[in-house]
Amino acid sequence: MVKGMENFQFTMGHIEGVSLPSTLCDVWDSICNFQAREDDILIATYPKAGTTWMQEIVDLILQEGDVQKSMRAPIFIKVPFIEIVPPKPMPSGVELAQKMASPRILKTHFPINLVPPSFLEKKVKVVYVARNAKDCMVSYYYFQKMNKILPDPGTWDSYFSAFLAGDVPWGSWFDHVIGWWKAVDKHQILFIFYEDMIKDPMHEIRKVMKFLGKDLSDEVLENIKYRTSFQAMKENPMSNYTTLPKAIFDQTISPFMRKGTVGDWKTHFSVAQNIIFDEEYKWVKVLH
Ligand code: A3P
Repeated sequence: MVKGMENFQFTMGHIEGVSLPSTLCDVWDSICNFQAREDDILIATYPKAGTTWMQEIVDLILQEGDVQKSMRAPIFIKVPFIEIVPPKPMPSGVELAQKMASPRILKTHFPINLVPPSFLEKKVKVVYVARNAKDCMVSYYYFQKMNKILPDPGTWDSYFSAFLAGDVPWGSWFDHVIGWWKAVDKHQILFIFYEDMIKDPMHEIRKVMKFLGKDLSDEVLENIKYRTSFQAMKENPMSNYTTLPKAIFDQTISPFMRKGTVGDWKTHFSVAQNIIFDEEYKWVKVLH
């Protein structure tokens, strides 16, 4: 149990206009100066796009399907979230990453313009996972309800407006996905879609394997697929965040492994909200 966490709420600050926890903004220089290593693998996502799923897939690929090794630690320890600065005594993402032996798998939710420059200078391989914005919004709403170190999301209607305005932690979904998408030709970025992972996980796992320069048998890949299925991860304490205290993630409000489906937005969006949202999409498509 983390002492003093019962009523803890992070306040939010901004870096280059992106809303971020102020604990992170306070140590921005140390995050920005983070030293990547050439053999790092960076998993970059907008929050709730399927980060944890990809973290487990990449880890199992590097461990060549060895399940025992993949169970060595909870996901947030074996794949440090580089910009996170949790309440003490929990270590920051930078502290965890600096102590790790190579090859490291690291996670970020930064839009590309905030990623520590050394990742791009050192040509680190990046696996970017994108998920449709509507499902991201729903998932993020429940996540902000249960995550006691992020602001309370308020009502669904107010959250809808805040999300569209990019006024949520880690900023605008639109800027994030478009920013990374535009960088695909310039850097070593594998762009994966959550919806494709749902439709044909083997196909997407194989893509990631090839990108990482590995060659695993079909049998090993099948096992990775099985171990990273929604149900298996929901039951796995190393993946489902149940090792975090309730004072941080209150899973009685909403489980971290919530639904894992495509199209849950249809049970949340009103007809009017859907029209407003689609207008925003159109605007994005026209601009880019
Ligand atoms: P839902 O809230 O829609 O269920 P992140 O890891 O980026 O925080 O994303 C969490 C979302 O990914 C949650 O979405 C979670 O259920 C879903 N997810 C995690 N593991 C998954 C898996 N193996 N298969 C499908 N969805 C998964």
